Amino acid sequence: MDEPRTLRLFVAGELPAEVRATLIDTQGELRRERLPVSWVAPEAMHLTLRFLGETPAAQLPALRAALGDALAGRRAPLLHLTRVGAFPDTRRPNVAWAGVGGDLVGLQGIYAALEAALAARGIAPEGRSFHPHLTLGRVRRSATAEQRARLGALIAALPPYAPGRWPLSSIALFRSELRRGGPLYTALETVALW
Ligand code: 2AM
Repeated sequence: MDEPRTLRLFVAGELPAEVRATLIDTQGELRRERLPVSWVAPEAMHLTLRFLGETPAAQLPALRAALGDALAGRRAPLLHLTRVGAFPDTRRPNVAWAGVGGDLVGLQGIYAALEAALAARGIAPEGRSFHPHLTLGRVRRSATAEQRARLGALIAALPPYAPGRWPLSSIALFRSELRRGGPLYTALETVALW
């Protein structure tokens, strides 16, 4: 098959297994009512830093280089889970997420370094602020206002996460392929933080 001319790409932090396990537990709480939500598969959970979208395949070498320049030798920020929330809010959720706290200054520094390295290679800045979160599920467009409100109520009733810090020690450039059973993410380049 011919190589695609564009790839759908994004940069994201990879999560330790115990964080994924906690997020799966949270999904379990929210799934009790069988609401129309596309739940993120455990292997697809990540902390998005920068969505690049459809990108010419010819830009891949520059992107790999940008990732290395921006991130190599950086410290892994120590993060923790805060609470479960929703975008835009819990009255009419579109997205259910788990919040992150801890070394957000370090995390923002990584985001800023990545943006600078991308800009140096001609990729325009995102032009919006970075709100770190871990997406748990996306409400299907067909969901009624009542179903959204029920999901919001489940979210609002959850207690905050117990303390527990983990390092964001790996950041990758991912390819996203949209498939009927859910997106397939493949790491094309991975940078370890220390
Ligand atoms: P998320 O972190 O809120 O889930 C891969 O598609 C990732 O890129 C998703 O996890 C998603 O965000 C993020 N993303 C950001 N902007 C996007 C957009 N316009 N379309 C698709 N995904 C986007």
